[in-house]
This record gives sequence, C-alpha cells and structure tokens, in this order.
Amino acid sequence: MDGSGHDRVYICEVVARDGFQNEARFVETADKIALIDALSKTGVAKIEATAFVSPKAVPNMRDAAQVMTQITRRPGLVYSALVPNLRGAMAALEAGADELNLVFSVSDSHNMANVRMTSADSLRAFEDIFALSRAHGTPAAVTLATSFGCPFEGRVDGERLLDFYGRCITMGASAMALADTTGMGNPAQVERLVGRALALHPHTPLGLHFHNTRGMGLANVLAAYRAGARCFDASLGGIGGCPFAPGATGNICTEDTVHMFEEMGIATGVDLPALMDLSRRLPGLIGHETPGQVAKAGRSGDLHPPPAQAASMAAQAR
Ligand code: COA
Ligand code: ZN
Repeated sequence: MDGSGHDRVYICEVVARDGFQNEARFVETADKIALIDALSKTGVAKIEATAFVSPKAVPNMRDAAQVMTQITRRPGLVYSALVPNLRGAMAALEAGADELNLVFSVSDSHNMANVRMTSADSLRAFEDIFALSRAHGTPAAVTLATSFGCPFEGRVDGERLLDFYGRCITMGASAMALADTTGMGNPAQVERLVGRALALHPHTPLGLHFHNTRGMGLANVLAAYRAGARCFDASLGGIGGCPFAPGATGNICTEDTVHMFEEMGIATGVDLPALMDLSRRLPGLIGHETPGQVAKAGRSGDLHPPPAQAASMAAQAR
C-alpha cells in the first residue's frame, strides 16, 4: 500500500489494562479472564492483560496476578503486563507475563502525577528491571507516555522524546512504543516523529498507542502506518484512559481500527465479526455505552435492504 511491500499490521489489544483501569466500577476477575480468553481467539497479535501497579492508585488492576495466572494462553500470542517499578516487574514475572511493558512519561509533570518520579528517575529505576528481565529471559519493552503532548506542559520537545527513546534502547528495551496519552498528537507530527524514530533505530520494533480524545486517533494511526509503523495498541469498544491525566478518554477502538485497515486491503489477522460481537457485550461488563463506532454501525459492507419504493424505482431504472 505504501510502496514498501508490507500490507499487514499487528494489533495489541489493551482493553483489559488501559480499558478497565479507567472504569470506576470494578470489573469482576472472572469477567476479565473470560474476555481475555475470548480475545485470544480473535487473531490479535498481543494482549496487554493487566498492570502490576499499586491497587490504591488503580483499584481495577488489583487482581493482576490472578488475571495473569488464570487466563488460557494461546500459543504464539504474547501476553504482556504494564509495570511501573521493580516491585511490579517482579510480580509480573512471577505471574508469568510474556513481556513487561515499562511505562514512563517523557514530560516530568505527567510522570510525577502518574508514578511520582521525574522522567529521568523512572528511567534510572528501569536499570534494575532490565537486569531482572534479562536474567529471567523475558523481554522488556518501554512505552513513552505523553510522547505527542502532555496535559500539563503542552507539546513535548521532539529531541527530548528521541533522546529518551534512544536511551531506552541502549539500556535493553526489546521494543518501544510511543503513547499519545491524552490524544494531543496530530497526523503531521506523528508522521514526522515516527519517521525519525524508525530512521534512527530501524531494528527496534515500534508500536503506537493512540487515544481518540480529540477525534484524531485513526488519522494518527494512518499517519504512523505511512511512516512505516506496523504495530498498534487498541482497545475493544474504544474505552480506556489514564486515571492520572485530566480529561483522558478512550484508546482508539480495536474494531474500528481493524475495520479501517481491512477496508484498505491491509491485513490485520483479526476476525472482525468476532471482535464486534465481543464489543457489543462490553457495556454489560462496564455498565455504560462505549464510544466505538463500527460495532454500532456495522461494517461498510454490511448492507441494509432498501425501502420497498426505492427498490422498485431502482428496478425500473434498470
Ligand atoms: N504493585 C502493587 N503495589 C505497589 C507497587 C506495585 N508495583 N508499587 C508500590 N506498591 C504499593 C506500596 O506497597 C505502597 O502500599 P501501602 O501504601 O499499602 O504501603 C503503595 O503502593 C505506595 O508505594 P510507594 O513505593 O510509596 O509508591 P508511590 O506512592 O510513590 O506510588 C506507584 C508509585 C508507581 C506504585 C503508583 O503511583 C502506581 O501504581 N501508579 C500507577 C500508575 C498507572 O497505572 N497509571 C496508568 C497507566 S500508565
Ligand atoms: Zn493509554
């Protein structure tokens, strides 16, 4: 599609972590496990199953170890866990996470709000986590939150972002992700930054984590795709958001993202009807509607019977 010969993207489903972390009501552990097990059968490449964080900070993640140990692992699928500190990393490894997702924000003020450290302090603390994950033989990826803008500081300096990006790779990050925590990025900025990150570090897998807070989510996905990115986080129903960012709203919606790519002829490997079915059941788990659109509207190709009069006029015209 873009002349590079690649026509396949990889979806990381984050509803069980990013989606549920922002829900006021506790989602029952059995419901989380059943949903992850169902998602495992849809063809997504990776599932971020939970977060090993303080239960006081994020009550909905308090069952992280149960979720991670009780889900049914589908061979070939990667089950990752978000980790903010060494304690979380130890717990995630103990529970059998396939990959650690170390997160810090590249703006100091959001990192302080989220994990009570400066960005540089978070990175320093990751030294021990990388050592632990290496010893354990489990990859540790890094997500840079607020990569495209911070709700407290505004636009984040691109050089600062790329500096952190490079340092994480030097320290041992197995993969990197750029997260637009509160949907501040725009497609031109995304294309530029993704292009630069991939040019500087062509051998490090890069994922993108967009939120649709200002309606730019799928435009940003496409901009990142055109710049060469192939891995995208997305949340069923488009729910989610950081509890420590004012005005945060949902991730890009998985079924909307899959639908867009498939309509464009770019394979996702995902069973879209199965995903739409799960999305339609999500309000039953969380107690409210979700922002996703395709599960409500149906796919572009799901046609409706025309009204009788229109059908007979069309037949006459033929
Ligand atoms: N898992 C579970 N509990 C943890 C923990 C972890 N990884 N790390 C710390 N804790 C507990 C401590 O035991 C302590 O509990 P207590 O109050 O009952 O004694 C409490 O959390 C605070 O620990 P402390 O070391 O003082 O850290 P803190 O108060 O500076 O909080 C974080 C730091 C990172 C633990 C906390 O801010 C956090 O979990 N944030 C979550 C961020 C998040 O998930 N954001 C959304 C996704 S980006
Ligand atoms: Zn997020």
